[in-house]
Amino acid sequence: MCGIVGYIGNKKATSLLLDGLKKLEYRGYDSAGFCVLDDNQFCLIKKKGKVSELEAQTQKISIGGSIGIAHTRWATHGAPNEINAHPHLDCTGNIAIVHNGIIENYQALKTALKKEGHKIISQTDSEIIAHLVEKFYQNGNLENAVASTIKCLEGTFGLLVLDKNQAKIVAVKKGSPLLLGIGKKQMFIASDASAVISQTKKIVYLDDNEIVSVTYDGYTIKNLQGQLVDKKIVQLKFTIDQIEKRGFKHFMQKEIFWQPQAIENTLRGRISKNRVKLSLKLNPKEINRIIITACGTSWHSALIGKYLIEKLTGIPTEVDYASEFRYRDPIIKKNDLVIVISQSGETADTLSALKEAKQKGAKTLGIINVVGSTIAREVDSGIYLYAGPEIGVASTKAFTCQVTALILLANYLKSGDKEILAELVKIPQKVSLALKLSGKIRHIAEKFKESKNFLYLGRNVNFPVALEGALKLKEISYIHAEGYPAAEMKHGPIALVDENMPVVFIAPKDNTYLKIISNMEEIKARGGKIIAIVNSTDSKIKNLADYIIKVPKTLDILSPIINVIPLQLLAYHIADLKNLNVDKPRNLAKSVTVE
Ligand code: M6R
Repeated sequence: MCGIVGYIGNKKATSLLLDGLKKLEYRGYDSAGFCVLDDNQFCLIKKKGKVSELEAQTQKISIGGSIGIAHTRWATHGAPNEINAHPHLDCTGNIAIVHNGIIENYQALKTALKKEGHKIISQTDSEIIAHLVEKFYQNGNLENAVASTIKCLEGTFGLLVLDKNQAKIVAVKKGSPLLLGIGKKQMFIASDASAVISQTKKIVYLDDNEIVSVTYDGYTIKNLQGQLVDKKIVQLKFTIDQIEKRGFKHFMQKEIFWQPQAIENTLRGRISKNRVKLSLKLNPKEINRIIITACGTSWHSALIGKYLIEKLTGIPTEVDYASEFRYRDPIIKKNDLVIVISQSGETADTLSALKEAKQKGAKTLGIINVVGSTIAREVDSGIYLYAGPEIGVASTKAFTCQVTALILLANYLKSGDKEILAELVKIPQKVSLALKLSGKIRHIAEKFKESKNFLYLGRNVNFPVALEGALKLKEISYIHAEGYPAAEMKHGPIALVDENMPVVFIAPKDNTYLKIISNMEEIKARGGKIIAIVNSTDSKIKNLADYIIKVPKTLDILSPIINVIPLQLLAYHIADLKNLNVDKPRNLAKSVTVE
């Protein structure tokens, strides 16, 4: 994980680098640092903690210089402290580097470099890169030194190298994202576009092993053979407004409340005359089996996708954790379609699973939010969510938009279902109604904010919603929570139930409704506290549940999009009432770019 940004131009580098780091902080926030070339000297400042602490430190000193590199860290190798924070220097102090990714063979390289006399001071896997560049640096040719360095590295990297002697940044990537932002008399290199969008919308997405060199005179991109590569400049479509809080206390809160617009964006222009229009490179008649693979919240969407696709198309559909799929030598047959779901489009496990599927000859399709991301560029074809940037570490709008995209896909694979499509366009309005429950849910959150455990129970297409509700609570409130298929409860988890156990039931009026009522009776008989998400017309459950949350009725198959809203709000309010860092929960990062 980690976020990196580099700047060269006609403005003071420090403030632009800090601004970029703040936008990238979702990628890691245990320490941060920058190195600016000021009057032919490196000004290197690193700080444990958030970017705001680094910023406070820099306000005490005046720093000039209009070229520099910066980093916000999510620790993998070595504790979060100032020594392990980036940038790292070589022995001469002339080369500074920032790195995102993991160098898997760093121990062997470190031992060899130490034998050669290099002084390595941190516990990171990254510092050895600065020493390798030093080792290969000859005749002022930084590009060659970087090319030789990366030939030694196993693992993943997004890498920026700053050379004190020639005011130049050289960048390269493998498996980690990196882009070049081209502004007026200034250039940026960053992990993602959020770091540069306030300055420029002209972007070049870099591919693996392309060596970028930026100076005050311009930039070049070459391949490892030293040949110039002609890259397309892309115009970014999202705006700075989309990545600011706009009056909300937290990004997560804003993202929860913007779901009606986000879902509308996913739907826009894709339904016409009872048909779904998607430009996908596949023939639905040729698909024998679908495998969906993803991680975290996106994996919960994938599980919902299985229910949807099998029900609407009859195509057998399997779901796999990307990290498991990748390593279990999956069986892929000729007419298999592998769908990968990822908000960021950068999740390392999902990317590896995609590569495995491609290598085994599967057709691939992505359901991705971040336009131009690595996974989006690797799949045969895809469906963008157009949900806008998701900054809160806990995924919310991406989830509802992923489910929306899966419903579109299922209707594309089979000729569109008139009733489902007519109801789908009403979903944003129904989500708006569900969001009005926020005040009531805050009141419930007050009652349960000190609970130590939660159970979330649902059935059928709402079982993954129970998993998602539990994940949201765990991530941001640090309360232990488990999601279960409601009927499985009696096979074990019921042993946990006593008067201290809140149990959240997702209980829409579908074909499992009466069974869910029986499950509630079983919890009530053991003193558990019941919070029930029910349809607005429900009258039975009020006698059983301690707290009732009534959401608008929709078709069973679309109900996850509505039912997840109160669960997102419950997690949000509990975390906020506990004064926790909702947008940047401990130990987590938005984009998990390490395997
Ligand atoms: O960007 P992706 O959708 O590939 O991310 C997958 C997971 O890392 C992500 O959903 C994670 O579980 C979130 N923190 C959930 O809120």
